[in-house]
Amino acid sequence: MTRIATPLIAGNWKLNHGPTETRAYLDAFLPLVSAARGSGTIALFPPALSVSTAREVLAGREDILLGVQNVHWEAAGAFTGEISAPMAFDAGASLALVGHSERRQLFGETDDHTTRKVLAVLAAGLTPVLCVGETLEMREIGREREVVSRQLNAVIDHIEPRHLDTFVIAYEPVWAIGTGRTATPAHASEMHTHIRQVMASRFGEDGARVPILYGGSVKPSNAMELLAVPAVDGLLVGGASLDPASFASICAAHP
Ligand code: PGA
Repeated sequence: MTRIATPLIAGNWKLNHGPTETRAYLDAFLPLVSAARGSGTIALFPPALSVSTAREVLAGREDILLGVQNVHWEAAGAFTGEISAPMAFDAGASLALVGHSERRQLFGETDDHTTRKVLAVLAAGLTPVLCVGETLEMREIGREREVVSRQLNAVIDHIEPRHLDTFVIAYEPVWAIGTGRTATPAHASEMHTHIRQVMASRFGEDGARVPILYGGSVKPSNAMELLAVPAVDGLLVGGASLDPASFASICAAHP
């Protein structure tokens, strides 16, 4: 079981950086982030094929965790092209993204799939990072809280209080992902507070303690103001995590 110290700064590489590029990335990145830098956790989510290479290069850097970007809900079987949570664990991952908006929008993942995946991730001893967030369309008609509550409730209806020690939520408004359009600190604060209330009303104090990351066009120039929001416990960074220097400067942005 991995306890996550906050702030958690996570880099989601999406479909970028195979094993060779992963090695080169880490060779450049590791000297830029001191193992003795104090509080917080860094996590990298390379493509699944690069996790073993990353594990090997990271040997001894317990301060940097690895995760996968997706898993299937079954542990094994006739599911061509899929990877499972126990396999991700075996390869050196300790976290798994679940329900990223690209999975929901491009690959048809439903709340039911997301729920099954979270349960599989927890059963394998990994920490799920459950991604929730509204589309622009929903935001424009003022339904962002409703969408996020639905995505969250679908999953938390099925988890138990004992799972909360290894549970992370990422609020990623779809309109901010890869668009260069970041949520304002005020919007992030409002939505994170809403998510925390949903968790607290379900699970009390333990629910309120679940870390909530902000994601969507985070870059070195806005990381500090987002991390300064009291309800923001970390960042999930896509595009700006692809370059080692840019991600290292986000990792150094603790206010
Ligand atoms: P972005 O992606 O930082 O490129 O907007 C964030 C994410 O999809 O997790």
